[in-house]
Amino acid sequence: MHADERLSARERVELLLDEGSFVETDKLVRHRSRDFGMDQQVIEGDGFITGHGLIHGRPAFVFAQDFTVLGGSLSETNAKKIVKIMDLAMKTGAPIIGLNDSGGARIQEGVLSLGGYADIFLRNTLGSGVVPQISAIMGPCAGGAVYSPALTDFTFMVDKSSYMFVTGPDVIKTVTHEDVTKEELGGAAAHNTKSGVAHFLAHGDVECLQMIRELLTYLPQNNRDDAPRGDAGDSVDREDAALDGVVPPMSNVPYDMLDVIRRVVDHGKFFEVQALWARNMVVGFARMDGRTVGVVANQPAFLAGCLDIDSSVKAARFVRFCDAFNIPILTFEDVPGFLPGTAQEWGGIIRHGAKLLYAFAEATVPKITVITRKAYGGAYCVMGSKHLRCDVNLAWPSAEIAVMGAEGAVNIVYRREIAGAADPEAMRREKSDEFKDRFANPFVAAEHGFVDDVIEPRQTRRYVIRALRMLEGKADTMPRKKHGNIPL
Ligand code: HXC
Repeated sequence: MHADERLSARERVELLLDEGSFVETDKLVRHRSRDFGMDQQVIEGDGFITGHGLIHGRPAFVFAQDFTVLGGSLSETNAKKIVKIMDLAMKTGAPIIGLNDSGGARIQEGVLSLGGYADIFLRNTLGSGVVPQISAIMGPCAGGAVYSPALTDFTFMVDKSSYMFVTGPDVIKTVTHEDVTKEELGGAAAHNTKSGVAHFLAHGDVECLQMIRELLTYLPQNNRDDAPRGDAGDSVDREDAALDGVVPPMSNVPYDMLDVIRRVVDHGKFFEVQALWARNMVVGFARMDGRTVGVVANQPAFLAGCLDIDSSVKAARFVRFCDAFNIPILTFEDVPGFLPGTAQEWGGIIRHGAKLLYAFAEATVPKITVITRKAYGGAYCVMGSKHLRCDVNLAWPSAEIAVMGAEGAVNIVYRREIAGAADPEAMRREKSDEFKDRFANPFVAAEHGFVDDVIEPRQTRRYVIRALRMLEGKADTMPRKKHGNIPL
């Protein structure tokens, strides 16, 4: 393993947990299979390490697959070991972390190992929204085995030493005649930039385990708990004059929303999730007033911050995670609308965009939205609008809230007048200026109460924290139902 720049399963567990806190379970379990010479290969623990320990002093359950024992393959008995700690995690309300490094179902055990996977998938599903579930892919993860990580909340992948795919390069070559390497097909880079399957890319095992520990500092232990509250140590009233100049005077000039986020949150610290995928949307965790918030933000620096299929799915899943785990949602909005084009329409932007709408609408946690610039069209409704029961909606003076941009609107509303004008260009300009004066500002929305206040950008932090404090006791409900039918 070391020659491969990978740590052993036991080293990984030790590094993940607080020093000396690991308590191993089922270390004497052995596999039961006697077929195919398996009676010659009996190893205590059957290759998997399971147990519990502490992460930053709080309990967590962990399993680690040991690739050096039969390729980390999953047997009937080590599936039972995993199921046992998953059940305990659910009963005690603590996160579960899986360190994956496995050749998949143990071939010699046939349906018994397949059944073991399905038993794990069931727990992943039942535990979803009950305790945080985290997967790290630190070696192979292929075939149906990929579906356990896919069911968990966050997937980490180690660059260059891990891969995930449902069917590998050889099968692909036979079926579609495509030539692709394991790394290209399912490496950490592929799943962090192309597929959106992974949420984090780590450089090496050590960094991966440290990132998991850091992520957990932002999360509650379970869905009845609140995230740990740190001492803010960063003044509530801290103003940042640079925010007043962040939005460029020309409304089609980009700026970096990450800069805005960092200037507003505690100590400028932002733990971004899926930083490399669908970059026109930014999601991640930060603290405000010492308390975890989930930040969702359009990113004008990529695709002008348009909503498209991937960014809608990315943000929807994140919003639902926050809602499930009592984490307030802070939205920064600068969105010119949905990305036009056949690729988007045929790819199903209608149903994918609806996911984000649904996620924002159903969320009952405190919801605060800050409109920094554009809030156009359907995207205005989607991105944490008042109408989706957001609690506090703030706008900067640079906000533009309208059905569409001035140029597009004028071309539709004044099409005939412009065509018949002596100087069509001059008329287009005049009407466009009129339109901007009327709509390209936050005041019409504020008149209607859809925006609660228009604030100076430099004071955003103070306003957001006051809103969070006011909302601390918020209780909102959903109509009685078994579950909704989010447009998957
Ligand atoms: C039993 C396995 C195994 C498996 C690997 N080994 N995978 N034993 N069941 N699934 C054993 C090998 O025989 C070998 O044993 C040792 O682990 C190391 O494997 P190598 O092949 O030498 O290692 P490497 O070259 O690094 O290749 C790793 C690998 C390859 C790419 C993962 O082993 C492989 O392709 N394995 C099979 C993958 C697979 O198709 N699994 C089933 C997927 S379907 P020795 O004794 O020689 O050291 C699946 C269904 C899930 O998992 C069901 C969900 C619904």
